[in-house]
Amino acid sequence: AEVNKDDLRSPICCILGHVDTGKTKLLDKIRQTNVQGGEAGGITQQIGATYFPVEVLKEKIAPIDPEEKQVFKTPGLLVIDTPGHESFTNLRTRGSSLCNIAVLVVDIMHGLEQQTLESIRLLRDKKTPFIVALNKIDRLYGWQATPNGGFRDSLAKQNKSTQNEFDTRLQATIVAFAEQGLNAVPYYNNKNFAKNVSLVPTSAHTGEGIPDMLQLLVQLTQERMAASLMYLSELECTVLEVKVIEGLGTTIDVILSNGVLREGDKIVLCGLNGPIVTNVRALLTPEPLKEMRVKGAYVHHKLVKAALGVKISAPGLEKAISGSRLLVCTDDDDEEELKDDVMSDLKDLQRWISTSGKGVCVQASTLGSLEALLEFLKQGKIPVSGIDIGPVFKSSVRRASTMLDKGHTEYACLLCFDVEIDKEAEKLAGEMGVHIFSKMTIYNLVDDYKAFYDNLME
Ligand code: GTP
Ligand code: MG
Ligand code: NA
Repeated sequence: AEVNKDDLRSPICCILGHVDTGKTKLLDKIRQTNVQGGEAGGITQQIGATYFPVEVLKEKIAPIDPEEKQVFKTPGLLVIDTPGHESFTNLRTRGSSLCNIAVLVVDIMHGLEQQTLESIRLLRDKKTPFIVALNKIDRLYGWQATPNGGFRDSLAKQNKSTQNEFDTRLQATIVAFAEQGLNAVPYYNNKNFAKNVSLVPTSAHTGEGIPDMLQLLVQLTQERMAASLMYLSELECTVLEVKVIEGLGTTIDVILSNGVLREGDKIVLCGLNGPIVTNVRALLTPEPLKEMRVKGAYVHHKLVKAALGVKISAPGLEKAISGSRLLVCTDDDDEEELKDDVMSDLKDLQRWISTSGKGVCVQASTLGSLEALLEFLKQGKIPVSGIDIGPVFKSSVRRASTMLDKGHTEYACLLCFDVEIDKEAEKLAGEMGVHIFSKMTIYNLVDDYKAFYDNLME
């Protein structure tokens, strides 16, 4: 087929890893920003998106490619930063399900940790190709930094004992990956991308190894991504966040994974009270190399091409659901069909509701986290009688209270994950005898409920 250079799309790369391994700092080093310094407690709590145009990638790779031999086939790279804290499994799941490739960040001083293992499982489930950044090499004893240099040159300049410590830690990491059934090799010895995982030593503080990491990402995308993935095709767009912005009203932050969006497009998405059909008033992006989640100047566009993080301003977005797909309705489309289509993600979840009509009520922040919670409850053989997304209001409490009328105190409960609970609703629950369980991790939530249940049944 004829290749139209204008139709190339940027791949999406997700950064995953255990808390505080340096995921955000690595991106800060490339962007020359300090997003991490502005985070509460230095902890990432949201998915971030940054666009790296190809010129920036070229410039960053230059120290190890002075003759500019590397071929670049895509217009840039959209990088998604995720939180490493254990509470945010839902965001890691979302981030990893959006990407074409991934960087798994491991702290060379700590090796594989709890959320490293969780991330490996997510990547394997989706068969996503990934590389490993073995970060914080500057913490090796006696490390002499060559700022922003290629890793191998830097290593060669270290004294013998530092090189030995590196080798020891590298070997330990390789063994730990082998225990997970993965064949990890230093990237410069990797002859087979499809079979072996590449390890690339980096420092987010000195910038060493970052040229190597970026070059590897470019090579991996171009070799491992199906050729079809490199061209723009059908629209693929997911809602990340629903946010009220001064001067714009309620907006949605989306990841445009494929296709094109235009100002004025009629869009269809899943809403709490039914499908939302509206027209795009403004398409906004942060400047290249700026984080989507950091407030700043927005660039207005008539048209945007994948992959990109985009803020959409449009009337009637108040009840939009995070995690929802977004569709564009053209003159050729049947609007009713698209409405059913977007709502099906929410309707599909009704299958988790127990046919006996008995069970707990469940409420979560997004489609993805609600599904994860339902899955976990099923494994625990806990029946569910009602589901909802978004903050808990009195109506949710009243619904849960119907279990009391049926004589099932053990099910007169609301299990809430990552949602706000209205004060009035909380008061009503107290009066009616409905138990509200609210936690930031799915596992703790289910454990708390089980303890309550066992106690009641004794
Ligand atoms: P979460 O998003 O909360 O999971 O953390 P993160 O993986 O994004 O790590 P973050 O960028 O917040 O860095 C955590 C801490 O490690 C910060 O204090 C950083 O300054 C430090 N750090 C990150 N990378 C490096 C590195 O390469 N070398 C050294 N010495 N410290 C680093
Ligand atoms: Mg972070
Ligand atoms: Na952190």
